[in-house]
Amino acid sequence: MTANPTVLQDLPADLDRERLPMHVAVIMDGNGRWAKRQGLPRILGHRRGVDALKDLLRCCRDWGIQALTAYAFSTENWGRPLEEVDFLMALFERVLRQELQEMMRENVRIQFVGNLNSLPRSLQAEIERSMEDTRHNQGIQFTVATNYGGRQEILQACRSIALQVQQGLIQPEQIDEALFERHLYTAGISDPDLLIRTSGEMRISNFLLWQVAYSEIYITDTLWPDFDRAEFYRALRAYQQRDRRFGKVKT
Ligand code: FPP
Repeated sequence: MTANPTVLQDLPADLDRERLPMHVAVIMDGNGRWAKRQGLPRILGHRRGVDALKDLLRCCRDWGIQALTAYAFSTENWGRPLEEVDFLMALFERVLRQELQEMMRENVRIQFVGNLNSLPRSLQAEIERSMEDTRHNQGIQFTVATNYGGRQEILQACRSIALQVQQGLIQPEQIDEALFERHLYTAGISDPDLLIRTSGEMRISNFLLWQVAYSEIYITDTLWPDFDRAEFYRALRAYQQRDRRFGKVKT
């Protein structure tokens, strides 16, 4: 099935508007393989990956999904060839600069999660500007995980809580899930209801380890640049057929 944006502009009739995920998270895998299959350099796969992400963001907005989180760069991705890392950093910066006006027009609120301090200074500046400018937008919340690692996020939350205990600001008995969540990068963002991973890999890859505890996981063999509205529709259909029990039994 190929994407037909005019057909899928509105929420397909066989999806239940009342049972859509509020928050969708995506592990955008397969850019490199997509490029290789076309006989193109890997970096062109990332470029096409940006187009797929932009369309998914629009689709979420069109279909009434309130939050989208995308895994753009993991703490492990620094281990890629230097020229690919440099390309990705420059791509993020360029996309942010080019898309800011559009995000304002479309009422998108963009946030970044991860260890942002070790990103290139010019990218950090673009990130700060986009977060600041879109801060009051009330439409879809778009979170980009950049230099993100789930274990690192949990460790920095532990450190920050330990410091508060050491300073006598809180007692160890006060540490519960709600308090812990306030120390994560994602404080204030709801947990994903649906986690999508492309390219057929069956892994979480250090993405939102705490937050996906009860997310429904959908894996497709489609490579990320080919992930279109028709694919997203299939993921949502599968999601709506799941029975979410959160560890309980049906009464
Ligand atoms: C994984 O494919 C993809 C990435 C590491 C980069 C994804 C980033 C984008 C699509 C750009 C997002 C941009 C902004 C500003 C939000 P891979 O290279 O691991 O593919 P492979 O497994 O086939 O090699």
